[in-house]
Amino acid sequence: MSTELDVIPLARPLIGEPEERAVLEVLRSGSLSLGPRVPEFEAAFAARVGAEHACAVSSGTTGLHLALRAIGVERGDEVVTSPFSFVATANAVVYEGATPVFADIDPVTLNVDPDAAAAAIGPRTTALLPVHIFGYPADMAALERHGLPIVEDAAEALGAVYADGGAVGGRGHPAIFGFYANKQMTTGEGGMITLASAEQKERIDSERNQGRAPDMGWLDHDRLGFNYRLSDIACALGLAQLERLDDMLAARARVAGWYREALGGLDLALPCADTGGAVRGWFVFVVQLPDGVDRDATVVALRELGVQSKPYLPAIHLMSFYRERFGHRPGEFPVCERVAAASLALPFFPQMTEGQVARVAEALSGLLGA
Ligand SMILES: Cc1ncc(COP(=O)(O)O)c(C=O)c1O
Repeated sequence: MSTELDVIPLARPLIGEPEERAVLEVLRSGSLSLGPRVPEFEAAFAARVGAEHACAVSSGTTGLHLALRAIGVERGDEVVTSPFSFVATANAVVYEGATPVFADIDPVTLNVDPDAAAAAIGPRTTALLPVHIFGYPADMAALERHGLPIVEDAAEALGAVYADGGAVGGRGHPAIFGFYANKQMTTGEGGMITLASAEQKERIDSERNQGRAPDMGWLDHDRLGFNYRLSDIACALGLAQLERLDDMLAARARVAGWYREALGGLDLALPCADTGGAVRGWFVFVVQLPDGVDRDATVVALRELGVQSKPYLPAIHLMSFYRERFGHRPGEFPVCERVAAASLALPFFPQMTEGQVARVAEALSGLLGA
């Protein structure tokens, strides 16, 4: 029997002395909210992905919401997106009274299939919302051919490179990143929008701050806004994390390499290899179990062996809210549904050791009877 101490967690942020020092400095400065770290973090992050501008926001979800507003999504519009994503992707569309129109995914990359996306475009489609799922870049060139405004959900894709080159987030469309504690870098909660348009940045900066323009007086507001700000404390943490991002990304890629070797002989579908110039920004290590293996029972059995895992991701269109609101039914997006039913996220974090990877592989191997 495993003890508490033996449990290999699903995720664990890498936080140390530099982060503690950065946060303490802010606490001692007395300027905890809209302080100097906000523009500093935005500039450093924009430079990192090669974007003109960046807007720090309170989460990836609020970033999606403001980015969709900034490209002009309104009530009654349709936005074509992937059903194989975290629910926030579709929710952000619904916040604006628009409809997420799902298109099935490619069975290899697990990103939206460009042909399916093309078929889903109709007269009310005002935007595309591709997701770089599990950090693997979507086929942007194919999606851009339609000439529609695009928001990229890059919440899982920090460190990724598009197939035709350039860091994800630097393509000009608003791209959103998330800094929840399981992400490539964290601010506890937080997000960032990178983009090329100064006009869109001005709107987002105002809307995240209650609709106030930078040159307006206190309590004067010229548009509807929200409180989607990211604090100076969080931005200080983000700056410290950004300093060591390369090391953390390299560590994740190393762990992924160990997994590939350790799981190579098992009857599992592993994350697709980088092809055609695309580079994955490693976020999670998700495998697909073979037909006939009960995924949920596998999660329980792994837990008993001291290995945390979770079903990741469920299909958005089959969630009860989406079934009830939009009338979705099983069978609509068969590739997504098959992948969603078989997918299992394994422990994955930068400090993970080769020994821990071996333990996970051994546990899985035992359960699969390999
Ligand atoms: C693909 C995707 N989109 C959006 C989000 C939302 O980000 P947040 O949790 O920071 O609101 C996440 C976060 O987990 C995500 O994985």
